Amino acid sequence: MTEKKLWGGRFEAGLEKWVEEFGASITFDQKMAEFDIKGSLAHVEMLGQTGIIPQADADKIKAGLEELLQEYKTGQLVFDVSNEDIHMNIETLLTEKIGPTAGKLHTARSRNDQVATDMHLYLKAKLAEVLEKLSNLRRTLLGLAEKHVYTIMPGYTHLQHAQPISFGHHLMAYYNMFTRDSERFAFNEQHADISPLGAAALAGTTFPIDRKMTADLMGFAKPYSNSLDAVSDRDFILEFLSNASILMIHMSRICEELISWCSNEFKFVTLSDTFSTGSSIMPQKKNPDMAELIRGKSGRVFGNLFGLLTVMKSLPLAYNKDLQEDKEGMFDTAETITVAIDILAGMLETMTVNDAHMAESTEKDFSNATELADYLAVKGVPFRQAHEIVGKLVLECTKNGHYLQDIPFERYQEISDLIKEDIYTALQSKTAVERRNSLGGTGFDQVKWQIEEAKKAF
Ligand code: ARG
Repeated sequence: MTEKKLWGGRFEAGLEKWVEEFGASITFDQKMAEFDIKGSLAHVEMLGQTGIIPQADADKIKAGLEELLQEYKTGQLVFDVSNEDIHMNIETLLTEKIGPTAGKLHTARSRNDQVATDMHLYLKAKLAEVLEKLSNLRRTLLGLAEKHVYTIMPGYTHLQHAQPISFGHHLMAYYNMFTRDSERFAFNEQHADISPLGAAALAGTTFPIDRKMTADLMGFAKPYSNSLDAVSDRDFILEFLSNASILMIHMSRICEELISWCSNEFKFVTLSDTFSTGSSIMPQKKNPDMAELIRGKSGRVFGNLFGLLTVMKSLPLAYNKDLQEDKEGMFDTAETITVAIDILAGMLETMTVNDAHMAESTEKDFSNATELADYLAVKGVPFRQAHEIVGKLVLECTKNGHYLQDIPFERYQEISDLIKEDIYTALQSKTAVERRNSLGGTGFDQVKWQIEEAKKAF
């Protein structure tokens, strides 16, 4: 049995230690200590200004909370599992500091609106951080794309050489994905920017509180307009976990490509030593561990989303203790993605692009087959027929061990007198890329246009 709880009035017996530990959240919700104190500072300011408690008491509580905040920042606060969660730990510490006046702080408030407020404040701060880091990653991609407008690489479908493309174009595809990720997180910010404080346990309060004032003091755009909604829903977190999962998919995909590209088979890029690791047994190894870890960590981020979806799915209104399970996944996801974004940006900034080798790999393949088919189609051959002709030629080449650009002109003339000497120019990768000038295509001018548009919108 343990000492008396803040809620102990109606109890005759206490919790067994191990039961108490099962119910406690202080081991993880202490991450919100700063936000909890800031929320209390706003609440007590309002209690004083509205005359709900005497101003002198409000001032005393404020001074005590300010001291606790400083002590927290310097690592001096010691939390106790018997005080269950961050809210009751802070209140207990405040009571130790200023005596029974501390008990007035919880007037017109419940832990239900308090915890929801802390979560909103935490997420708002994290979203700002995520958005800043994403901007940096996008800037890196934009810079790299600009440098590589004219770098030619094989474009793939089914991981088979498909058509040559600009490496800048490939990078801009990711740039656009991360831009949409940023937009999603920015939208998420609006939903994290609403104050639950004052919803109290579930139904509001009889005290003449001023919810707009506390919302303002904490920097929220507005208060929730329904007290049940304010304490019951965690959709702002689900939205974050979902946005984070989509972001992780994008990061995992580019990492997968980096992992392939730095392999002996591709040799498209060389990752910097500062983002690579060695093997404890094979002296030659240089492994893309960081890219692999980002790919791997997508698993835990998806898991956190599914965890909370499952927690939420059948909860009746309003607060249920199940909601305590909303925290660890959110913290873990926020911490995982903020580091992963920086690692990815760092890898991209420091890698060497083996542009000559990338371009060369489009010379010994059939990725110019569409060029020949398009060439015939432009001259009036129905595209289906052109496709058939080129398909047969590719087969002939594979049997003879050469490529379309190696076929002698006489042979081309046998196939069709529509084929002129300029076919050899048309078959070059550079021409193939340059001429794909449809809007959003890989043509150099299109890539430059994309980059300019992106810079304007940045
Ligand atoms: N630690 C709790 C949580 O995270 C705080 C709210 C507790 N409220 C309650 N009615 N037991 O959800």
